[in-house]
Amino acid sequence: MVEEFVIEKTQSIQKQYEDLSTIIKGLLNKNDNILSNLSNFTAALKQTFDKINWVGFYMFDGEKMYLGPFQGKVACTQIKLGKGVCGTSALSRKTIIAADVNKFPGHIVCDSDSKSEIVIPLIKNDKLMGVLDIDSASLNAFDETDKKYLEYICNFLIEEIF
Ligand code: SME
Repeated sequence: MVEEFVIEKTQSIQKQYEDLSTIIKGLLNKNDNILSNLSNFTAALKQTFDKINWVGFYMFDGEKMYLGPFQGKVACTQIKLGKGVCGTSALSRKTIIAADVNKFPGHIVCDSDSKSEIVIPLIKNDKLMGVLDIDSASLNAFDETDKKYLEYICNFLIEEIF
């Protein structure tokens, strides 16, 4: 049984991420199916931050990335490496912050509400597993603080759950 969680939104962004990290570590369980874990991971992020309008995984199958568990509007199902923000992050293996998605070369429009985006690559034992993609309907919604904490939470996911 999962208890409902509440993160006080008047706290600093750092404290909200710290509380979220603790909740995610308690919520995910390596004995559960990976789909269940990834689904709850996206729900926890969406529930915590009002600035997120879409959050989800694109998983690498050795050739391309395909849509995984997500929260938000329907989205494109396949992304090639090197294409869009997600494919660029996957290929470079670096987190990418697109402050204005319309200025990102080759940005793939899935939800026209999305104005900015952060994508974190998921690498385990030097292998690309996929990416975590987070969109906002506001411009410039993500910064180095988001990058630091999201990379930390994704690292937990990679080390303990994948
Ligand atoms: N905008 C992404 C595509 C995925 S959607 O945002 C859900 C991109 O350019 O890679």
